[in-house]
Amino acid sequence: MNEARRATIHGSDTTRAGRAACFCAILGVAALRCVAQSSAEAALAGVTNPQRAWQNWTLNCQGCHRPDGTGSEGTAPSLAGTVSKFLTVPGGREYLGRVPGVATSPLSSADLADLMNWMFVRFDKEHLPPDFTPFTADEVARLRTKPLRLEASAMRASLLEQAEAAAGSNR
Ligand code: HEC
Repeated sequence: MNEARRATIHGSDTTRAGRAACFCAILGVAALRCVAQSSAEAALAGVTNPQRAWQNWTLNCQGCHRPDGTGSEGTAPSLAGTVSKFLTVPGGREYLGRVPGVATSPLSSADLADLMNWMFVRFDKEHLPPDFTPFTADEVARLRTKPLRLEASAMRASLLEQAEAAAGSNR
C-alpha cells in the first residue's frame, strides 16, 4: 500500500473517531459513560478497536437489539445476560455466526468478528467461558456463507435449552 493511500485510510479513521467523539459530547452525561466504556474495554481479546465496534453496533444492530442489548419484544431477543450462553453448547458458536442479523449484515467479516468479540463482554460477560477463543475474520467469513433462515428460531430455542440444562447440572 502506498503512503498516500495509507494516509487516506488513517484520515478517514480519524474523522470517524472524531465524529463519534462529537456524538458523545452532544449527549452530555452519556459522554462520561462513553469515556469510561472505551477505557474499560481497551484490552478486550479479539477486539482491535472497541470504539469502532461500539459504533458498528449503534449503526447496524441496536435498531432491533436496543443500545443496551435488551432487545425489543417481537423484533429481536435480548442479548444481555444471554448471548454468551451459546458459546457453552455444541453448535452455539456456529449459530452465532450464521444467525441472519449477523451473517447478512453489511459489515465486513473483520468488523463483524471485532463486534461479536466486543458484544460478548459488553452484554454477557457473566456467561463468557474462561477458555473463550475470540472469533476471527476468517471464521466469521466461513460461517456467514451459510446464513440461517426460518430455522433460526427453532435452533435458538434448542441451544438455549441445552445451555440452561448444562448450567443447571453444574450447580
Ligand atoms: C432486523 C432486526 C435485527 C437486526 C438489525 C439485527 N438482529 Fe440480531 N437477531 C434478530 C433476531 C430476530 C434474532 C433471533 C434469531 C432469529 O430468529 O433470527 C437475532 C439474534 C441474534 C444473535 C443470536 C443470539 C440469540 O439470542 O439468538 C446475535 C448474536 C445477534 N442477533 C447479533 C446481532 C448483531 C451483532 C447485529 C448487527 C450486526 C444484529 N444482530 C442485527 C434481529 C436482528
